Amino acid sequence: MNSIQNIKSRRSIRKFKPEPIGTEVIKEIVEAARFAPSWKNSQTVSYTAVYDREKIKNMAKNGMCGFAHNTEICLGAPLLIIVTTKDKRSGYERDGSFSTSKGTHWQSFDAGAAAQTFCLLAHEYGLGTVIMGIYDEDVIRSVAEIPEGMSVSAIIAIGVPDEAPGAPRRKPAKELLRII
Ligand SMILES: Cc1cc2nc3c(=O)[nH]c(=O)nc-3n(C[C@H](O)[C@H](O)[C@H](O)COP(=O)(O)O)c2cc1C
Repeated sequence: MNSIQNIKSRRSIRKFKPEPIGTEVIKEIVEAARFAPSWKNSQTVSYTAVYDREKIKNMAKNGMCGFAHNTEICLGAPLLIIVTTKDKRSGYERDGSFSTSKGTHWQSFDAGAAAQTFCLLAHEYGLGTVIMGIYDEDVIRSVAEIPEGMSVSAIIAIGVPDEAPGAPRRKPAKELLRII
C-alpha cells in the first residue's frame, strides 16, 4: 500500500475480532512510529500497551466518563494503547517558560502527530484502530500506572477489524485550501 492509499483507506475501527495482538507487531509499529516529528525533536510521546483484561475492563467501565459508546469499544478490544506525553517540555524553553503564545498546545500537537502515525502504521499491518478522546484521565492514569509528570493524551483501541465502515463525509479539498 502506498502512503496515499494508506491515508485514504484508514478508518476508525470500533469492532474487533477476538484474535489476540502479539507484542511483536506492536514493537514493530512503535519502531516506525518513533520517526514521527515532535517539538524540537523532544520526543515526549510514549505508549503503554495494556493487555491485562482486568485493567481493560476497569478502564472501560470506570474510565470513559459514562460514555457507553467508548466503554463498548474498549470491552471489545483485545488491546488498548495509552498515548502519554511528558509534561513541560514540548512548547517550553529550557528555563520553563513557554516558547510561544500557544502555551501548552504543542504537547497535544505532538501527541496527535504520533497517534496518527501509529494508526497509519497499524493499518499498514492490517490492524484497525480508533483514537479515543473521551476518557477520565485520573482513572486511566491510576489503572495504567502512568507516572507523575506525564499526561494521558489519547487512548487507541487496536485489533483485527471486524467491520469495514465507509469513510464519513469529508469536505472537498477546495474548501480546505486557500492559496494566496
Ligand atoms: C482527537 C480525536 C478524538 C476522538 N475520540 C473518539 C472517541 O472518543 N470515540 C470514538 O468512537 N471515536 C473517536 N474519534 C474518532 C473520530 O470520530 C473519527 O476519526 C472521525 O469520525 C472520522 O472517521 P474516520 O477516522 O473513520 O475517518 C476521535 C478522533 C480524534 C482524532
